Amino acid sequence: MKILTIATRAFSDQRPGTSGLRKKVTVFQQAHYLENFVQSLFDILPEHAGQTLVVGGDGRYHNRSAVQTILRMAAANGFGKVLVGCGGLLSTPAVSAVIRRRAAYGGIILSASHNPGGPDGDFGIKYNIGNGGPAPEKITEAIYARTRTISEYHSLADAADIDLDTLGRQHIGEMEVDVIDPVADYAELMQELFDFDAMRAWFAAGKRMRFDAMSAVGGPYAKTILEGLLGAPVGTVVNGEPLEDFGGHHPDPNPAHATELIAAMSGAQAPDFGAASDGDADRNMIVGRDFVVTPSDSLAVLAANATRVPGYRAGLAGIARSMPTSCAADAVAKALGIPCYETPTGWKFFGTLLDAGRATLCGEESYGTGSNHVREKDGLWAVLFWLNLLAVSGESVEALVRAHWARFGRHYYSRHDWEGVPSERADALMTGLRAQLPSLAGREFGHGLRVAQADDFAYTDPVDGAVSTSQGVRLRFTDGSRIVFRLSGTGTEGATLRVYLERYEPDPTGHDQPTQEALAALIEIADRVAGIRQHTGMEVAGVIT
Ligand code: G1P
Ligand code: ZN
Repeated sequence: MKILTIATRAFSDQRPGTSGLRKKVTVFQQAHYLENFVQSLFDILPEHAGQTLVVGGDGRYHNRSAVQTILRMAAANGFGKVLVGCGGLLSTPAVSAVIRRRAAYGGIILSASHNPGGPDGDFGIKYNIGNGGPAPEKITEAIYARTRTISEYHSLADAADIDLDTLGRQHIGEMEVDVIDPVADYAELMQELFDFDAMRAWFAAGKRMRFDAMSAVGGPYAKTILEGLLGAPVGTVVNGEPLEDFGGHHPDPNPAHATELIAAMSGAQAPDFGAASDGDADRNMIVGRDFVVTPSDSLAVLAANATRVPGYRAGLAGIARSMPTSCAADAVAKALGIPCYETPTGWKFFGTLLDAGRATLCGEESYGTGSNHVREKDGLWAVLFWLNLLAVSGESVEALVRAHWARFGRHYYSRHDWEGVPSERADALMTGLRAQLPSLAGREFGHGLRVAQADDFAYTDPVDGAVSTSQGVRLRFTDGSRIVFRLSGTGTEGATLRVYLERYEPDPTGHDQPTQEALAALIEIADRVAGIRQHTGMEVAGVIT
């Protein structure tokens, strides 16, 4: 088989964001576009000759063809072996698990996470390193630098396609390609962490669950584990077949996009437990009967109850949350006498803390929760954690959360997304906010709200000392309320302004308020301070979660 060296031109737009390189499918379909990125990656990876790479994706449109391209290029670039999920499928947490369990060199994930798929949808590629986690910035920046100078790539371009649908070993040139069961390693790992007997007994006792895989890659995992290993009735997993366009939906498990699940969980006939995962199955949403759990609360509840679950019986070393995530986890950490780390948005910041053994659980407000079992957030893991708690406590989702609030207080929480804002307007808004920072501290806004601290979040990684600046403008009020403003780093069209709102209610019993009502004063202050409506020209936030 001949290695071909193919001349190409550099692209200027291949800078990977916090979650890899994400673009429209049509961008990825340009001649040499994917190849340039992959070759740039291989060019900067040291000593990869003979090594094992893991490859898989969330099954979205272009996934299969991209897998074939990567396999031909990996062979031409001297990799010894590629482990590829059957059908080209592997969820993001499963890639992380496979890299770690099989001590692979690294892995490539094909996904644009929760963004829509299909010919007009999004596609993405991301590299994970040997610890199973997202490549750190020094690697992504090196890839980017290489994409700007690259002039040729290597491929066994004449090799036939690998049969992705048959398990077992095949070859491309000298390189071995093992088509693996995408679920097996992951399912083993879950059985090491959770009490499968207790969960089996919960289903056997007639309890019911609805898991909405949103026609994305979580389906096969949920079916194998819930309906297979745990004996949940067939039909527990809905939208369980991965579709190239996710059925035309936005595979994002939140109340705005998982409307079908929210509707199904309403009323006395609803199942006991509802959950959903996103395109690449790293996000999760937890729902009780007529009761939606915020991701910030979910993290705090899991942390407070961790020792009730086998994998965490020894207790937690620490908790980590992204800065905009509510302070509910901090209250738990304080009670447990363990540290709570506040990191910038994006999963990669948890990696150093997990590797160093400083944090055991981590989470983000954006429906991401995880632990040291892999180096990615993990949707089904969070769902099984909840299921394990329901099974051993015999309580409902709502009862567990209300008991939590009664003990730690309640953090009302919401995120308002202003999407499709022209970039220069969004930048002007943030610049305006930053300019006001010195005058905001101490300012009185009525409703008993006085700013205690106003800053632009900067973070020094306690493990490796890396410094990240300009991570979002935050206002903290004397009563513990917070407003955070930041621009999304993952959007593919225009800018998205995210406004995070949080109010602490130390004694929530008896005053159950609808969330948006509880946050009304903060919502009004956010607009007043940032001039959101004026800058964006929009009257209301497009997505409220
Ligand atoms: C969003 C979320 C962030 C998450 C990231 C990847 O990023 O807010 O928490 O880590 O997606 O799933 P953003 O678009 O806000 O930069
Ligand atoms: Zn995702």
